[in-house]
Amino acid sequence: MSTADEQKRASALKALEYVEDGMIIGVGTGSTVKHFIDGLGGMKDRIEAAVSSSEQSTAQLKSLGIPVMDLNAAGPLSLYVDGADECDPFNRLIKGGGAALTREKIIAEASAKFVCIIDAAKEVDVLGRFPLPVEVIPMARSLVGRKIVAMGGQPVWREGVTTDNGNWILDVHNLHIVDPLTLERELNQIPGVVTCGLFARRAADVVISAGNVRKNR
Ligand code: 5RP
Repeated sequence: MSTADEQKRASALKALEYVEDGMIIGVGTGSTVKHFIDGLGGMKDRIEAAVSSSEQSTAQLKSLGIPVMDLNAAGPLSLYVDGADECDPFNRLIKGGGAALTREKIIAEASAKFVCIIDAAKEVDVLGRFPLPVEVIPMARSLVGRKIVAMGGQPVWREGVTTDNGNWILDVHNLHIVDPLTLERELNQIPGVVTCGLFARRAADVVISAGNVRKNR
């Protein structure tokens, strides 16, 4: 039985097969993506550049000599590779454990293909075991928290964490997310919410779990 980190690495290496010559690649954030960036470093002469979802990934990309482009300059992307905290059988995700959810959602939206790389423990039947991250404008933290309590969730402020966008994170516990699409929409409509970590409207196109491409349901 391989460790979680070995499974993450296997998924990341498999994702390199989706990289084509001359691409500008959207790159996510986290320990699984770190393996992907390492692999990308070995083929950097074949790609044009990367668009990064966090300062953390940007630093790693640059340290390997991979040019990092602004999304506005890059335009639509062919490929986005990122991890997730949970993945359901329909490739809908919870993301944001690394607090990079907003930029991740933006790049996923800009990309024709979203390849999600995970270890097997991230696969769930119903999303919600992992507390759902919600990025909020700081002055709205209490307001958003009260709204979420009224919706049945239990928000916990991730104290000490400021996102790359200068905002805060609420981690919402006790959600059994049977309708991720509706919850994503409802949370995103609360004034002060930048975005929530549900990726249901823009789910992954391909999920690679422990190195194996999962069949879509
Ligand atoms: C960051 C994310 C990550 O993709 C998610 O937290 C998974 O991280 P890891 O690969 O370290 O398990 O959404 O905001």
